[in-house]
Amino acid sequence: MRVDVVSIFPDYLAPLELSLIGKARQDGLLELNVHDLRDFTSDRHRTVDDTPYGGGAGMVMKPEPWAQALAAVAADRPSGAAKPVLIVPSPAGERFSQAAAQELAGEERLVFACGRYEGIDERVMEWAAEHFTVRPMSLGDYVLNGGEVAVLAMVEAIGRLLPGVVGNPESLVEESHSDGLLEYPVYTKPSSWRDREVPAVLLSGNHGKIAQWRRHEQYRRTDERRPDLLEHFDAAKLPRADRTAFADLGYDIVDGHLKRRADSGGDSA
Ligand code: ADE
Repeated sequence: MRVDVVSIFPDYLAPLELSLIGKARQDGLLELNVHDLRDFTSDRHRTVDDTPYGGGAGMVMKPEPWAQALAAVAADRPSGAAKPVLIVPSPAGERFSQAAAQELAGEERLVFACGRYEGIDERVMEWAAEHFTVRPMSLGDYVLNGGEVAVLAMVEAIGRLLPGVVGNPESLVEESHSDGLLEYPVYTKPSSWRDREVPAVLLSGNHGKIAQWRRHEQYRRTDERRPDLLEHFDAAKLPRADRTAFADLGYDIVDGHLKRRADSGGDSA
């Protein structure tokens, strides 16, 4: 996969040289190019922002440097190749998720446009749609100072799904969100630590029991921390022990979907 990032703070992206993503780059699994937006300005001050039409606080990023930068990045697309996806990190974007990361990991080329200030002149998005599939994306319902931190998160989430980047691909299967649930708790040696014991089932050697305990811990934890995820959980084909686990947590299964019982009061303790 090839990734291009355009930013006025290219140094912000330096952590992508470290750890698994840095190694993926060294191994040729991921090509990552960072471009300075100011290199695409034409005035002495390398200006990238201006005051907003209509008034209001803050500054808006000027369209022309963005068009120059994105045209340069798009220029070396081989004829016939698919349009690269242009991801524009923004709190006003669609929500980035594990499902989005999986989908984007299947693309040949991603381009990230890091806005700062109050954002990028909206006409850039319309213009860019001729060269890219444009996807404004948000990390979550909070406001960052710019897109760079969001790009670090998204490139890591996407990059680790590329074949060969994570040594043991099985670790991708059993992690939080890969099946719409949060991950079960994990423990390592010693089995007794500061008067706290590892759950006995994990020392039992009974793999069936361990798998069931882990699944039920996923249900319990998801109910406690992210009950919204259970609204979308497919409960149609659950084994009996799992139905019982959900009944104990205060859920009925109606038409294959989990419904919290009115009398359970949201208390999963
Ligand atoms: N830029 C500013 N806030 C953001 C957010 N929540 N997600 C993605 N990009 C952003």
